[in-house]
Amino acid sequence: MSDADARNRRLVDDLTAAGLLPDRWRPAFLAMPRHRFVPDVIWADADGGGFTARRRRDDPAVWLETVYRDGPIVTQVDDGATPDTETGRLVTSSISKPSIVAGMLAYLQVEDGMRILEIGTGTGWNAALMAARLGEQNVITVEVDAVLAERARKALADAGVLPTVVTGDGAEGHAHGAPYDRVIATASVQEVPYSWVAQTRPGGVILAPWGTAFDDGALVRLVVDENGAAYGRFVDNTVAFMRLRAHRAPRPEPPVDLAGAAESTTALHPDAVAWDDLNASFAVGARLPDVSRRFVDADDGGDDFTFWAFAGASWACVEVADGASRYKVRQYGPRALWSEIEAAYRWWEGLDRPETGRFGLAVFRDHQYVYLDSLDNPVSSSAA
Ligand SMILES: C[S@@+](CC[C@H](N)C(=O)[O-])C[C@H]1O[C@@H](n2cnc3c(N)ncnc32)[C@H](O)[C@@H]1O
Repeated sequence: MSDADARNRRLVDDLTAAGLLPDRWRPAFLAMPRHRFVPDVIWADADGGGFTARRRRDDPAVWLETVYRDGPIVTQVDDGATPDTETGRLVTSSISKPSIVAGMLAYLQVEDGMRILEIGTGTGWNAALMAARLGEQNVITVEVDAVLAERARKALADAGVLPTVVTGDGAEGHAHGAPYDRVIATASVQEVPYSWVAQTRPGGVILAPWGTAFDDGALVRLVVDENGAAYGRFVDNTVAFMRLRAHRAPRPEPPVDLAGAAESTTALHPDAVAWDDLNASFAVGARLPDVSRRFVDADDGGDDFTFWAFAGASWACVEVADGASRYKVRQYGPRALWSEIEAAYRWWEGLDRPETGRFGLAVFRDHQYVYLDSLDNPVSSSAA
């Protein structure tokens, strides 16, 4: 057994021991080792921000060690436009953390013979695992980036499985292969494309990372009903996936000129709302899905920071001085965004701080909304 295969066996044993890998998936993980899918050039955090290339040929041992760590690996930056001699800025493809991959496959609850559509082929590893478990004829995977799709086809062929890899926009699903028993997205959405619901048979499951402008969100598991609607609960709020290409949002920049803003103070620390508790930031995001936010550290390298919120022509900021108990607030524009955020947080607190798993998503042809506990209790609504 090669060193790489031995490491894969150890990874599979660790996932099994941790209760993360169902027995029925073990043979697929053993047959489709991760190192066959990770490209020779991967990207790691660079000093001073961004990402720097790590080439397999420069240090094969470090490459292999990275492949078999339980972590995500960046496999493409800037849609492939940045050469591996320069610093990358935006992560545009990655291979997910093995324990997350195993967990998502477990949530899918597949049975023999089921047909699956995957959105976001990336390296092809997840498609390979599904093809090994269900048969290559039952797996279709869609990748928007033609270079990545071709690279995945080659890795899959080298590994001895040939699921169908479609180059295209996964937001449209893949009508040609419908109906599916399962749809799994490995890029996140702010709204579930209705095509996924339309292409899933009644009783089928859609598993997708879902997020807001405010929060990375959570994995949602929807079941499609006889009337072409889908609903279900959020099952894991620790996942953070890159957005579907069309759902990417530019990173908002704080304004240079703060004149004209209304000033006040607050006793609510921004960390309580957006950092300390994933349940809180999920709930605030569900309540205010179009509000984006950003933490900006003080230039002096100390612990002071400013929390920023943005929506349309409105912005708000909260200046946090380390050790203070009240913080200066500035709000500008038609919406008082910090007041809205504070009200959303107090709403969540007033409900006794419900965990993300009590929230669900309902998706209809023309609209979708997040609910708390039951479908008739919406917390936000948006047009599809
Ligand atoms: C986290 S990676 C997927 C990891 C992959 N499942 C694997 O096993 O390596 C997300 C992928 O989604 C792709 N993607 C983004 N937007 C897409 C879209 N609209 N349609 C299809 N794929 C998309 C990205 O190019 C990226 O490769």
